[in-house]
Amino acid sequence: MERRRNAVSRRRDAHLTSRIVARTLLGESEIQDSRSTPASWHLARAIRLLGTPLTRLLPFDLLGLPYQKYLDATAALEEEMLRILEARKTETRDGQRGDMLESLLLAHDDETNTQLTDHEILGHVSVFFAAGHETSANALAWTLFLLAMFPEVSAKVSEEVDQVLGGAEPTVEALDRLVYLGWVIKESLRLFTPAPWNGRVLAEDTEFLGYPLPKGAELLVSLYQTHRVPEVFPEPLRFFPERWENLKPSVYEYNPFSAGPRICIGAAFATMEIKIVLAMIYQRYRLALVPQRIDRFAELVLSPTSLRMRIEPKDGRFADSRAKIRGNLGDMVELPV
Ligand code: HEM
Repeated sequence: MERRRNAVSRRRDAHLTSRIVARTLLGESEIQDSRSTPASWHLARAIRLLGTPLTRLLPFDLLGLPYQKYLDATAALEEEMLRILEARKTETRDGQRGDMLESLLLAHDDETNTQLTDHEILGHVSVFFAAGHETSANALAWTLFLLAMFPEVSAKVSEEVDQVLGGAEPTVEALDRLVYLGWVIKESLRLFTPAPWNGRVLAEDTEFLGYPLPKGAELLVSLYQTHRVPEVFPEPLRFFPERWENLKPSVYEYNPFSAGPRICIGAAFATMEIKIVLAMIYQRYRLALVPQRIDRFAELVLSPTSLRMRIEPKDGRFADSRAKIRGNLGDMVELPV
């Protein structure tokens, strides 16, 4: 195979996972290529503008300000989504498409004899779309980074993928047998928690470690720190997939998808998606890092500031995938010197 230079993932680029989630939500015909789909384009623009510090500093609907551009992008996204919805309503609804938009259109509450309104459907689809691609894209990016830096782990993944799948496409049944790859993903989500924190408003007075916390207080919960408690995860900064062989933390000790009633609804989907993508990459290629500076960047999602990798043919030369990396990732994981 011809050697190609390619950037597999950069911050804000999440073409693969946005295509996967868009197809699941909206179906095949709407999404030929997410880059040229107006909905994806407006969404990417809105997210980019939301991440611009000036949008937060000057939240005014005034000409030329990024905040106004952000409002324009969200309005354009809503218009486009409503267009898709209208087009769908004219189709025969027979449950054949099997995408989420169809399920929402068909949903009917027999007790109250009601259906979802257009704006409720729009809300559901948009949240799934927004919540369901940057997280998975970064989980994949961090896992590929770790696999390139730890050749012995990569070699085991490759061996397992070959043994379990041979050259065949991964089936749901076969995914369960990719046990080691499952540990790798868990360990990557532990160290590089894609959604590193979440917020809660207290429903009642309580206390934490002796600190009184009043009802209505806003709390930030660090999933990232939770994953580094040494009593649960000995040598917490070590990337050690084998720890999952016997480790069974409670959902409050290990929670990349959060816990409680607001737990990520896409957790099973994301875990399966990441496993399939990694398995398919390992069936064909070896992804090698190039020397570069990589820092962490976290607003809503923990991302690498850069992640340039070379796509090599599957040649088993995992030691060659490592590269000299500068930046602050050493605070998050013990990297080989
Ligand atoms: C590795 C990938 C992912 C990670 C780490 C992740 C993590 C999270 C976290 C931490 C929350 C917050 C829950 C809370 O507030 O306690 C959340 C919410 C959510 N996630 Fe995910 N997620 C991922 C992928 C996905 C995917 C693929 C989808 C959809 C297909 C999805 C859909 C959602 C939705 C709809 C919510 C809001 C749930 C609610 O508020 O009730 N996520 N996710």
